[in-house]
Amino acid sequence: MIPERERHKKFLEKKFGRIVRYYDLVNSLLSLFQDRFWRKKLSGFLKDLEGPLLDLCCGPFTLSLEILRKRPRKIHALDLSFEMLSFGMVRSQNHRPYLYPVRGDAERLPFKDTQFSALTIAFGLRNLPHVDLAIDEFFRVLRENGLLLILEFSLPKNPIIKALYLPYLKYIIPLLGGAFTGDKEAYQYLSQSIQKFSAPEVIEQKLMKRGFHKITTLPMTFGVVTLYVFKKGKGY
Ligand SMILES: C[S@@+](CC[C@H](N)C(=O)[O-])C[C@H]1O[C@@H](n2cnc3c(N)ncnc32)[C@H](O)[C@@H]1O
Repeated sequence: MIPERERHKKFLEKKFGRIVRYYDLVNSLLSLFQDRFWRKKLSGFLKDLEGPLLDLCCGPFTLSLEILRKRPRKIHALDLSFEMLSFGMVRSQNHRPYLYPVRGDAERLPFKDTQFSALTIAFGLRNLPHVDLAIDEFFRVLRENGLLLILEFSLPKNPIIKALYLPYLKYIIPLLGGAFTGDKEAYQYLSQSIQKFSAPEVIEQKLMKRGFHKITTLPMTFGVVTLYVFKKGKGY
């Protein structure tokens, strides 16, 4: 019998494979074009860093390309979905020499220890069934003083903003996402996974327990997204 976690990964691989053509456009529309600002903010932390970098749950290279636009460096970009990777390769002609696409699982990284100077994961952590296992892998493949940057959805702390945001998350996102892509289930999953995902304090605790040191945690756009910037090693 296939364990529940593996079944979940198969479900995601299929879902993301189906929406790949519309993925970036729908994200931008649903986030009112804030998603570009969130990724730009993350890539700003990497502008002075040499490679190699690792971008996990890379999708069609949305974040990898943003990082490369700031400064060309070698990036390994890993995703479960073959469709995401192939779509990404087709549209990234100018950056091809720097991009190394890898089909794989973010919880079982096919890389040697201490290989990367930075690891990024944007809107991917929430999808992983075993977050602790993934964090162990992040720690293993990063070199000493390597940077870990996680971009992930969160819920606003302000009760008024939260009361306005929740109906949008619960009803409007599945409705619009379904209408744009023809796959309402994918956007129902998005909405539910955001509501269920751990609060930033819990993620911070997990990272520090594993030995990462906090540089900063930034809530963005009223806290609907959080950027975690951590380092493997002893602070600054
Ligand atoms: C929401 S998309 C994020 C794409 C991109 N990082 C961005 O900034 O928009 C999540 C991606 O994670 C991938 N994914 C889900 N589970 C995964 C796993 N266990 N290992 C690797 N990739 C996974 C999906 O195929 C999908 O492309």
